[in-house]
Amino acid sequence: MTAFERVKAQLQVAPKTWLVTGAGGFIGSNLVETLLRLDQRVVGLDNFSTGKKQNLEQVRRLVRTKQWARFNFVEGDIRELEACQRVSRGVDYVLHQAALGSVPRSIEDPLLTNASNITGFLNMLVAARNEKVRRFVYAASSSTYGDHPGLPKVEDIIGRPLSPYAVTKYVNELYADVFARCYGVESIGLRYFNVFGPRQDPDGAYAAVIPRWIDAMIKNAPTYVNGDGETSRDFCFVANAVQANLLAATTENPGATGQVYNVALGARTTLNELFAMLRERLIPAFSHLKDYRPVYQDFRPGDVRHSQADIAKARRLLAYEATHTVEQGLDEALDWYKQNLATTTSSQRH
Ligand SMILES: NC(=O)c1ccc[n+]([C@@H]2O[C@H](COP(=O)([O-])OP(=O)(O)OC[C@H]3O[C@@H](n4cnc5c(N)ncnc54)[C@H](O)[C@@H]3O)[C@@H](O)[C@H]2O)c1
Repeated sequence: MTAFERVKAQLQVAPKTWLVTGAGGFIGSNLVETLLRLDQRVVGLDNFSTGKKQNLEQVRRLVRTKQWARFNFVEGDIRELEACQRVSRGVDYVLHQAALGSVPRSIEDPLLTNASNITGFLNMLVAARNEKVRRFVYAASSSTYGDHPGLPKVEDIIGRPLSPYAVTKYVNELYADVFARCYGVESIGLRYFNVFGPRQDPDGAYAAVIPRWIDAMIKNAPTYVNGDGETSRDFCFVANAVQANLLAATTENPGATGQVYNVALGARTTLNELFAMLRERLIPAFSHLKDYRPVYQDFRPGDVRHSQADIAKARRLLAYEATHTVEQGLDEALDWYKQNLATTTSSQRH
């Protein structure tokens, strides 16, 4: 039995109350789904700025009625302390995911990103302190490695941030650390690396590469590659990120708290490899992809060339073991996109 299987079994025997902020988003809705399937009590908070009501609607259809009845959703904004305070009452574990993602968005509007990612984060920490939650687990980011060229990325060695978004995620870590020292708030930061999976939004200017490409391929629109395609990333299926959250919230290892961890696979996939994997998997259902080629364009300013995590720390202190390789994750994600995007496309045609 793995540590994760043990944690899941224990939670089912003794359910806890969880707060998931950003519950209507990609990672948040996957956390809500897993927790409800484990018969946990879950409070969700979201202002639907980038998240969607339909993500929660989908979770409702995937879990049992009795499990859905244990979910209490509050529409609200982490920029308001009162909202944070209200949803934190009586909560054991906070999984704080709400934030404005995307590096380009933060370059275009640093004030907006700052308000949700720093003021909102601070509000959540204050609420967690005031309501005496047991542990505060939060979404940090691989962007904190900034301009440091070292590979693979080890938690202690970071560079200078390359965007306002990266600043906000680093400030989160600093605040979490200070709240532990000043007020004894127990926290764990999870530096996600390019998470992907069902319900990740393919639309809009700030969409991540995997959903954006799948959408383009299914609709036979052009797939744009920034640069020569040899840029690489440590793509991490969302189930691995969910696992890291549950392990971080429940760990009884005293040396494991007050830390940040890389959450990834510890492997690298180039954009050219990713393109090939997606195309190969989609060809059986979408024959137009047989002669489909990517369109190469300029490198995007500020993008780092390679990213890969060292996941030894999460393995050692949290007993984290990724359950899905990139290929396994893509298979599951594609099942979802085929169902959801193909339906949208055909219904839009009518
Ligand atoms: N997806 C990734 O690869 C990745 C990588 C590194 C870090 N992260 C972090 O993980 C977290 C979740 O990201 P995601 O990919 O699920 O993005 P997402 O946009 O799907 O989810 C974020 C959710 O937060 C909500 N939100 C934003 N501002 C809010 C506010 N002021 N009040 C209440 N709700 C608010 C949004 O409506 C959305 O539902 C974020 O903190 C993000 O920075 C994600």
